[in-house]
Amino acid sequence: MYDVHSVREDFPVLKDVIYLDNAATTQTPVPAVREMEEYFFRYAGNHGRGAHRLARETTNHYEDAREIVASFLGTDAKKTVFTRNATESINIVSRGFPWEAGDHVIVTLVEHHSNLLPWLRLKDEGVNFSIVRPDITGVVNPEDIMSAINERTRLIAVNHISNVFGSTQDVQTIVRLAHKEDVMVLVDGSQSAGHMPLDIGSIDPDFFATPGHKGLLGPQGTGVLYMKDPDMIEPVFVGGGMVRSVTDTGYETEPSPAKFEAGTPNMPGIIGLGRAVEYVKDIGVGDIERHETSLARDAASQLAQIDGVEVYGPEDRTSVVSFNVKGMNAHDVAMILDQTKNICVRSGYHCAIPGTDLLGVDGTVRASFALYNTQEEVDVFIETVSSIVSLVA
Ligand code: ALA
Repeated sequence: MYDVHSVREDFPVLKDVIYLDNAATTQTPVPAVREMEEYFFRYAGNHGRGAHRLARETTNHYEDAREIVASFLGTDAKKTVFTRNATESINIVSRGFPWEAGDHVIVTLVEHHSNLLPWLRLKDEGVNFSIVRPDITGVVNPEDIMSAINERTRLIAVNHISNVFGSTQDVQTIVRLAHKEDVMVLVDGSQSAGHMPLDIGSIDPDFFATPGHKGLLGPQGTGVLYMKDPDMIEPVFVGGGMVRSVTDTGYETEPSPAKFEAGTPNMPGIIGLGRAVEYVKDIGVGDIERHETSLARDAASQLAQIDGVEVYGPEDRTSVVSFNVKGMNAHDVAMILDQTKNICVRSGYHCAIPGTDLLGVDGTVRASFALYNTQEEVDVFIETVSSIVSLVA
C-alpha cells in the first residue's frame, strides 16, 4: 500500500511549501543526501585515479551507482554514461554522431529546447531537419514522423513525455517503424524516467537521455546517456580519465563509458543519484506512476470545471498539468500561488517555446506532480486557483 505520508518524511522541505514544480526539478530524499554526506565526510577521493583507499572506495561507489541506474533503466552499464544533465547527454549525441553533409534529422515541435537546439544547430554542418507537429494535446502521431523520413534520414529525436502537455509519445512504435527504415531514434526521457516503469532494453532506442534530478530524484548536475552502439559516437570532451594511451602525437581512448566521461566527474552527485534511484526502486515506480497520474488527472479535471480556466494536454496525461487563467498572465498566477499559499509552480514557456506557441498563448502555468504530493495539496491548489479566478471575474 502506497503511503505518501511516510514518503514525505524523507523530504523535509515539503513542510514549508506545496511543491508542484517537479517537471523542472524534484526534491532529493534524505537517504540520497546522507549518501552524499558520507562521500564528503568519510571517503572523498577521485574516481579511477589512484591506488589509495579513498580513490578506490570512491571508484567503487561511483561504479555501483552506474550498475544501479543501468539495472533500473534496463540498460547495459558499459553503455550507460554519466553526464551533467539531459542537455549534455543529447549534445554528446548531436556533436559526436558521424554526420555527412546532406543527412537529415527529424524532431518534433513538442520538444523542450534541450532536445531541439542540439539538432537545429546541425544546420551549420549541412544537416537538414524536419519538424513534425503534434496534435493540440501534444501527442505526435508516429505515422507523421514516418512520413517525414527520406533517404537521407539518419535519426529521429523525440520526447517520451512532453514537459508542457504531459502527453506520452508512443516511442515503442516510433522505434519499431524507424528501425525498419534503418533510421536511429533518440528518446528524451527527461519527464519519463522515474515517473513510469521503463525497460529501455525492450523499447530499444539507439539513444536514451535523462537528467538525474527529475523523476530519478538525484541531485542537480547529474544526467544519464544510454547508447546502444557507443563506438559510433566521437567523444565531445577529451582529457583525463578517458584515454588508454597518449603519446606526443596522439591518443587512444578507453571504451565506453569512460570514453565519454573526461575530467573529474561529479562523484558525490552520481553516488547520490545511485542511492536516489534505489529509493525510487524500493518504493516502486509502478505505484509512483499511479499516484502521480491520479493526482494530476484529478487536478486537471477540477481545474477544467472552474469557469475562466483553460487546461491543456490529453485526458490520459501523466504528471504534468498546464493551464491558464483567462485574462491573467501566467507569471502573475504563479506569483500569487506562491505568495498566498506557498504553492510552487512553473510559469511561462517551460524551455519549450515552439511547443507552447502551438497553444497560441503567452505561456502557461504548469503544476507538475511527484511521488510525495498529496490529495490535500491538490485541494489547496484548486481552492487557491479558484480564488485567483474570482479576482478577474
Ligand atoms: N525542462 C525543464 C522544465 O520543464 C527545465 O521545467
